[in-house]
Amino acid sequence: MAGDSDSGLSRTLVLEVTRVTEAAAIAAARLRGRGAEKAADKAAVDAMRRELANLAIRGTVVIGEGEMDEAPMLYIGEKVGSGEGPEVDIAVDPLEGTTICAKAMPNALAVLAMSERGGLLHAPDMYMNKIAIGPGYAPDLVDLDAPAGDNITALAKAKGVPVSEITACILDRPRHAELIAAVRAVGAGVQLIPDGDIAGVIWTTDPEETGVDIYLGSGGAPEGVLAAAALRCIGGQIQGRLMPANEEERARAATMGIADINRKFRLEDMASGDVIFSAAGVTDGSLLDGVRFRGDFAEVDSVVMRSKTGTVRRIQTKCRIGE
Ligand code: FBP
Repeated sequence: MAGDSDSGLSRTLVLEVTRVTEAAAIAAARLRGRGAEKAADKAAVDAMRRELANLAIRGTVVIGEGEMDEAPMLYIGEKVGSGEGPEVDIAVDPLEGTTICAKAMPNALAVLAMSERGGLLHAPDMYMNKIAIGPGYAPDLVDLDAPAGDNITALAKAKGVPVSEITACILDRPRHAELIAAVRAVGAGVQLIPDGDIAGVIWTTDPEETGVDIYLGSGGAPEGVLAAAALRCIGGQIQGRLMPANEEERARAATMGIADINRKFRLEDMASGDVIFSAAGVTDGSLLDGVRFRGDFAEVDSVVMRSKTGTVRRIQTKCRIGE
C-alpha cells in the first residue's frame, strides 16, 4: 500500500527512515574519540543496513559505501528493505565525518536520503565543485562558474546587507586557498570546516542561526547529492560539477550513466520527485546534538524532512540500548 502519495513514498516512511539514521548514529557514537575512523564507519554501516532490512520497501542503494567489489555492505546497486512496498532509491552516508567522529569533534552525522525510483543522481565517488545558498532568492542568483567575489556581491545585494555581513562556509583544505582569498578579498567572512560539507550546505538555509550564507568549494560528489536532497525539502539552491581526477574516474562516471562529465548539475538534476532526507547527530554540532548515553538508554537528535509537504521534523528519541 503506497500510503498518501502517488509517488510511492508513504508518509509513514518518514518515521521509519529516522529509525535507520538513529541506529547508525548510536553505533558510531559508541566509537567517538577513539581515533578509529574505519571502525566507527563500519559500525554505522552495519547498524544502518540492519535497520534498512526492516523497512517495507524495495530499495536500491544508488549512493553508498562504494562499488560492490570495494564495499561488502550498502554498496551501489545493493537491494535493501523487506522486499515489499514501493520501489525507492536510497543514498546513504552512514557516518558523515569519519575523522570528526574519530576525534570527537563537532558535526558528525548519520545521513540517508530516499526518493522514488530515479530521483537521485548516481554520483560517483569523486570530488564535486559546489555552490549552495538558502531559500528565498531568485533562481540562479549565484552561479558555479562565476567568480566567488561576484557571487558574494550578488548575494549581499539580494539579502540587502553589506558584503561584510556575508559568510561563506568552505572546507579547510589547501586546494581552497585561492577561493578563500577571493572571498576575503571582497570583504566577506569565511567559516572553515575541517570536514562535513552536507551540514555546511544545510547551514545556508538558516543563516540567522548558523551564521553561514553560502557554501563554496569542492567536496565529495555523493555528499553533494545528499545535500541537494536536503535542499529539495527545505528549499535553497545548489549547483555542482564533477571533478574527475583521471581517466579512471571519467570512465566510472560514464558507467554510472553520466554522459556529460562537464555538466553543471542543478538541484533537480541531483534530487527530484518526492524525497525524504534524514540526519541524526553523532557528535554535537550546530545542526543537531550528538548522541547522549544515559544508562540503558541513548538519546538521539534527528531531523527528517520531506519534499512533498516541505515538513521538517526535529525528533528527539530515547532508545533503549540495554544488551
Ligand atoms: P568522510 O565522512 O567520508 O570522511 O567525508 C567527510 C568529508 O569532509 C565530506 O563531508 C566532504 O564532502 C569530503 O570529506 C571532502 O573530502 P576531502 O577530505 O578529501 O577534502
